[in-house]
Amino acid sequence: MSTHGRPKRLTTAAIRSMKGGERVVCLTAYTTPVARLLDPHCDLLLVGDSLGMVLYGMETTVGVTLDMMMAHGKAVMRCVSHACVIVDLPFGTYQESKEQALRNAVRVLQETGCDGIKLEGGEEMAETIAFLTARGVPVFGHVGLMPQLVNTAGGFRSLGHSETEAAKIRRDASAVADAGAFAVVVEGTVEPLAREITAALAIPTIGIGASPACDGQVLVSDDMLGLFNDFQPRFVKRFADLSPLISQAVESYATEVRGGLFPGQEHTFQVKRPAKT
Ligand code: KIV
Repeated sequence: MSTHGRPKRLTTAAIRSMKGGERVVCLTAYTTPVARLLDPHCDLLLVGDSLGMVLYGMETTVGVTLDMMMAHGKAVMRCVSHACVIVDLPFGTYQESKEQALRNAVRVLQETGCDGIKLEGGEEMAETIAFLTARGVPVFGHVGLMPQLVNTAGGFRSLGHSETEAAKIRRDASAVADAGAFAVVVEGTVEPLAREITAALAIPTIGIGASPACDGQVLVSDDMLGLFNDFQPRFVKRFADLSPLISQAVESYATEVRGGLFPGQEHTFQVKRPAKT
C-alpha cells in the first residue's frame, strides 16, 4: 500500500507520538534479508554505524564511512514496508559544520529513501539538530555513552554515576529535544538518570543499557540473536543463540562435500531430451 507513491511505513511523527504510550521497539538492521525478518515486529529499524564492528570487524565505529552507511541504508530500504527506518551519520560527516551535516543528511535521505538520520551529541550538536529539522531532515538524537567519542572518552563504560556526569547528560538530552529531535537514544546510562530524563522530555527516549525506564528499547540485532560473540555487555539479552547453529550447519556441509554426499541427485541437473514429435 502506498500514499502518493510513498510506502506506508511508520513515520518519525508516529514514533514521536508514541511518547508515554506503547513502548517503541527498535533493532539495528544492516542487510536486506535480516531487515525483512525484523520489519514486521519493529516500529523503528536503525541502520547503525555499529555495522563497522558487527559486519566489518572494526574495533570501533570511528572508521565507518558515509558510503558504507549509504550502501547498507539502500539494502535495508529495499525490503522494509512497515517500520520507520533511520540511518546513522558516521563519525566526521556532521561535526564540522551544520552545513556539512545538512549536505550529508540530504544525501542519505535522497539516495537511500530512509525516514531520517541519527547523530551523536548533546549540547554541542543542538544548533546542528535545529538547523536540520528546520530544513526537513528528521533527526534521531543520541546521548549518554556515545561510541563515536571513544577516543576522547577513553573507552566504553556506563555513565551518570557522578553528579557532574549526570548533569551533563541531563543537559544533553534536553538540548537535543529542544532542538527538534523526534526521539533520542539514551545509551549506557544508570537507571535513575534514564528515568528522570524520560519523565522530563516530551519526546520518546529509546534506551540501550539505560534500564526499562525508557519509552522504548534498541539492541544490536546480531547481539540479541547470538551472532556477534566478541563481547557481551551486561545490557544485552540473547533471545537466540544462532552461532552454534551456523557452526553445526557448516560442519555438516564440509563433511558431506568431503564424503561425496553433497550434492545428491536431487541437487543435480540432468540433460533434458527434447520431446519426440
Ligand atoms: O550504531 C548503533 O547501532 C547504535 C545503536 C546501538 C543505538 O547507535
